[in-house]
Amino acid sequence: MELYDLGDRPPLGEVPEKMHAFLVRQDRFGEPKDAWQREVIDTPEIGPLDVLVYVMATGINYNNVWAALGKPVDVIADRQRKGEPEDFHAGGSDCSGIVFAVGDQVTNVHLGDEVVVHSGWWEPEDPWVLSGRDPMLAESTRIWGYQTNYGSYCQFARAQSHQCQPKPKHLSWEAAGCYLLCASTAYRMLMGWSPNVVEEGDYVLVWGAAGGLGALALQIVTANGGKPVAVVSDEEKRQFCLDHGAVGVINRNDFDHWGPMPDTSSKEWGQWFKGARAFGKAFWEAAGEKASPRIVFEHPGEATLPTSGFLCATGGMIVICAGTTGYTATLDLRYHWMRQKRFQGSHLSNDEQAAAVNRMIMDRKVDPCLSHTFSFDEIGEAHQQMYENRHPYGNMAALVNATEPGQGAS
Ligand SMILES: NC(=O)c1ccc[n+]([C@@H]2O[C@H](COP(=O)([O-])OP(=O)(O)OC[C@H]3O[C@@H](n4cnc5c(N)ncnc54)[C@H](OP(=O)(O)O)[C@@H]3O)[C@@H](O)[C@H]2O)c1
Repeated sequence: MELYDLGDRPPLGEVPEKMHAFLVRQDRFGEPKDAWQREVIDTPEIGPLDVLVYVMATGINYNNVWAALGKPVDVIADRQRKGEPEDFHAGGSDCSGIVFAVGDQVTNVHLGDEVVVHSGWWEPEDPWVLSGRDPMLAESTRIWGYQTNYGSYCQFARAQSHQCQPKPKHLSWEAAGCYLLCASTAYRMLMGWSPNVVEEGDYVLVWGAAGGLGALALQIVTANGGKPVAVVSDEEKRQFCLDHGAVGVINRNDFDHWGPMPDTSSKEWGQWFKGARAFGKAFWEAAGEKASPRIVFEHPGEATLPTSGFLCATGGMIVICAGTTGYTATLDLRYHWMRQKRFQGSHLSNDEQAAAVNRMIMDRKVDPCLSHTFSFDEIGEAHQQMYENRHPYGNMAALVNATEPGQGAS
């Protein structure tokens, strides 16, 4: 058959010519609810080390808000410049599903395996990758389903076989599909930058603690013996954070010193410093003692980085994976060098880190924090809610080939 309905599964290995997918096109870049549209497209070919995954459920991630807006990068033009012909972006960077077809050099997964897919993608022939060093630092590295096409908003997603991890059996398709991008990113940030990794008793300041990354960070810190202090903007999120391991919670709306740090010789800087010190006091109150965070888990960026830098403990690390509020970084360098702090960029994860956090999920040390399950046709709306920061806490999913929520757990 040329095209199957979602949920109507063809015999394993018999790949239909066409498939359903949610796409962005350049002429509709803008609000995610309009940019993301359902279409029927050709099912992609796979290479020798690729797999085609029959997607049961997909996670919803912030990167595809950026893809919808067409900024800061037009991912379609970017790929076309690299020689790819498609004039659309079929995104999605997280999924649970069934291995449906495999390339002829694939050995780590087999037809019918139930998997989750992490989103670290790199050229198998990249000399850096072949040298055995961290592939996330390779020139060819891309984020699957954001910088590559045919991600998890497709009926059949194309991935590299190394991206596959076993699906935790106790989870439904949607709970399994919602977490790996944020979980693996949070894991690398917290456990990947030795010697600044979470150790017993360490305080960790977690911005956006009820968000996708934050909810997982709270639990990873706790599972490693650390003490997370959560930051939120809404009192209603307080209990959620406490339930997921936070030792205390700070409401950022109690402060107003946000944005780039003013010039240190200006009058405005004094005002900013007062705000930062008050935030530091709130941290002590949340922690229950006069302590500083050994790690600051950053992603808002421009708005919060100066405060993160001020609070970070001597010899500690501010680790950052995004600049949701802006890309201009300001830090008081006096505190940075005198107190020998580290400012570390971090991006997604390698296979080992994805496997390590997936094991924590399989061992039930970390919960995916599935907040809401959308239907396939609501993929645009899910991104719109995220764009407007009015989405539910934790991680969201959408059903793809799963026909109802709750299927897939055993
Ligand atoms: N590089 C990577 O590998 C990678 C991986 C995953 C995600 N990311 C990026 O990380 C960012 C967060 O992703 P996510 O999935 O956690 O998103 P999310 O679920 O929307 O959570 C982000 C949280 O940030 C907080 N926030 C919003 N505006 C803020 C502000 N002005 N100041 C402080 N906090 C603010 C919000 O919490 P409150 O309003 O309660 O404070 C929100 O819950 C996105 O930009 C995403 O693209 C990067």
